[in-house]
Amino acid sequence: MLKIDLAGKRALVAGVADDAGFGFAIAHALAEAGASVCVGTWPPALTIFLNLLERGKMDESRKLSSGELMTFEKIYPLDAVYDRYDEIPEDIRTSKRYKEVGDCSIGGLADRLVADFGERPLDIVVHSLANGPEVKKPLLEVSRNGYLGAVSASAYSLVSMVQRLGPLLRDDGSFLSLTYMASERVIPGYGGGMSSAKAALESDTRTLAFEAGRKYRCRINTISAGPLASRAASAIGIIEKMVEYVSANAPLTEKLTAKEVGATAAFLSSSLASAITGNTVYVDKGYHAMGMAVPPG
Ligand SMILES: NC(=O)c1ccc[n+]([C@@H]2O[C@H](COP(=O)([O-])OP(=O)(O)OC[C@H]3O[C@@H](n4cnc5c(N)ncnc54)[C@H](O)[C@@H]3O)[C@@H](O)[C@H]2O)c1
Repeated sequence: MLKIDLAGKRALVAGVADDAGFGFAIAHALAEAGASVCVGTWPPALTIFLNLLERGKMDESRKLSSGELMTFEKIYPLDAVYDRYDEIPEDIRTSKRYKEVGDCSIGGLADRLVADFGERPLDIVVHSLANGPEVKKPLLEVSRNGYLGAVSASAYSLVSMVQRLGPLLRDDGSFLSLTYMASERVIPGYGGGMSSAKAALESDTRTLAFEAGRKYRCRINTISAGPLASRAASAIGIIEKMVEYVSANAPLTEKLTAKEVGATAAFLSSSLASAITGNTVYVDKGYHAMGMAVPPG
């Protein structure tokens, strides 16, 4: 029987702070396939996430097919706009949500992983995070800071993770990120430079696949997912309309579930996908193939 077998593999999923988004569903699918899973959580969301876990609010979604609950081997604080601790501004470092967590930079995460598990502790890295401080503003109105902030949090963060976590990967490792088709088609409302950030993420996926493939023998892909009403997507303000529009106009009309993206992520992270790298893989019910909306009637 051909099955996704990630037994003995360790994954890091960066960008998990509740059970509604793609990161959680990917963590669940990787755990279902036998991997041990660590997560990286943004400090402003960390306390709430830990509370939800502790109070059993996510027990239903943590259930695996064995009946056991998925557990996270480690939950690391991670702010992916910083590469090193000394880059975190003093006022942020000493603020309520950051002062207890220590070095939550990407470099700090790499150091913690090595301290906890040894020199080459990882097989799978998933980048499931994005942030656009001015996402509600059209590109025509976005400030330089807003634009660069979106690209920093949502695209350079992947480059930095490959730089710092690439050396920690065991042979045949895999990086995966999440993108959105606003990178290549106009999606009104997906503003703040987020469309530019996703275009950079997809282009970087190809270049990094070559460079890191040669250097670390790893693969790098990105999943272009259809719209899902996650916490991050709700910030866009029109996510419900986007979901409805896609299900009215895509080849497959059922709404996309995070679980479907999780299953694709588990496949792409496994040795079954050993020849797949540098790809943007659409998991969107086929919507990307359409050239016009389905006419009414
Ligand atoms: N929801 C959609 O419709 C959709 C569609 C296509 C692609 N995506 C992409 O999927 C990925 C996951 O998003 P999601 O929609 O599942 O929402 P989500 O809210 O589950 O995930 C986004 C995560 O990013 C974290 N984050 C924000 N800024 C961060 C930072 N500086 N450092 C570390 N973490 C940070 C948030 O805390 C959150 O946990 C994102 O890359 C998003 O762009 C989403």
